[in-house]
Amino acid sequence: MKKAFKWIGIVILSLIIIALGTAFYLNSAAKSRFAKKYDIQPRAINIPTDSASIASGKNLVTAMCTTCHGDDLGGTEFFVTDDLGTINAPNLTPGGVGKTNSDLDWDRAIRHGIGGDKRPLFIMPASDFQYFSDEHMGQMIAYLKTLPPVESNWVLPKTTLLCNILVQTGAFGDVLNAETIDHNAPSHTAPERGATADYGNYLVKVGGCRTCHGPELNGGKDPNPEAPPGPNLTPGGSLPSWGEDGFIKTMRTGSTPMGKDLNGEFMPWKSIGTLEDDQLQAIYTYLMSLPKMETADLSK
Ligand code: HEC
Ligand code: HEC
Repeated sequence: MKKAFKWIGIVILSLIIIALGTAFYLNSAAKSRFAKKYDIQPRAINIPTDSASIASGKNLVTAMCTTCHGDDLGGTEFFVTDDLGTINAPNLTPGGVGKTNSDLDWDRAIRHGIGGDKRPLFIMPASDFQYFSDEHMGQMIAYLKTLPPVESNWVLPKTTLLCNILVQTGAFGDVLNAETIDHNAPSHTAPERGATADYGNYLVKVGGCRTCHGPELNGGKDPNPEAPPGPNLTPGGSLPSWGEDGFIKTMRTGSTPMGKDLNGEFMPWKSIGTLEDDQLQAIYTYLMSLPKMETADLSK
């Protein structure tokens, strides 16, 4: 009897040591990914100064950046929990990052996911933004430089042991976009603006709709476990019955023609809804040009 207890004790102790060793290994592997330096030199692009270009930059930045960086782009707490840590989306105005950022620093952050100090940015969706054309990139940088300064300070990401383990096991998906972007790829081009499927496809790509609505847009899930599922946006979902006007109204008001209020914490309709009519028409036209697909089974 005594011998059996001794063996059970040894087994339990070994399991604890293995678990601690695994946690230690995952934690330090994640830490070294966060600490890696990416030495890349984006190609110089033209930064326009005319008011039409700056207005176009404002249109894109408002739709694509305010959800996380705040309506005045002065930054937000973004994600703060005891379990996972503090991940702020910093102040982009001249009161923050904009004070010291060069044009190349902006490009490095937005299309490459690399911070001014060469570290990989956490969560910042550069994998989507890498599809911005040089022209749109220049317009956005031009606008960002005109922002009125907001005085606010946000801290660099502080992640907990649990968060590091989850990052390392891939539970959050691709959250260090600098790792997967091809930093030497030639710039992407943008189709001409208009209510076309082609231009809609471009907005859906840079807008990151697939992150939450699935790689085929027939339903998906935000990496955040608290998020509701992202519905099917292909003709297999509800969108055909809404019509283009119903879709535009949903993006502007956050409630669907079926009377459902979209949860703005998880579906960024407020920022997407700042796109102009032709842009939302383009997105709808693109979505309706997709093959009609059954809603993805997310339980798998
Ligand atoms: C899904 C949320 C999200 C969206 C959308 C987003 N960002 Fe970020 N961004 C972040 C987070 C979080 C950080 C902080 C990452 C870090 O410090 O590791 C960040 C960091 C940055 C930085 C800081 C770079 C540095 O040197 O520290 C810049 C610049 C930036 N974002 C610009 C933009 C612009 C411009 C847009 C729109 C085109 C945008 N972001 C959209 C979440 C987002
Ligand atoms: C950060 C995650 C996220 C991103 C990015 C995102 N969505 Fe969503 N979306 C959601 C979630 C979650 C819902 C469901 C909200 C709810 O149930 O309250 C939703 C709902 C919708 C709906 C309502 C569909 C229905 O059948 O009720 C439409 C339309 C939509 N999104 C379009 C888009 C488009 C277009 C884009 C890209 C420009 C986009 N979304 C980007 C998470 C996202």
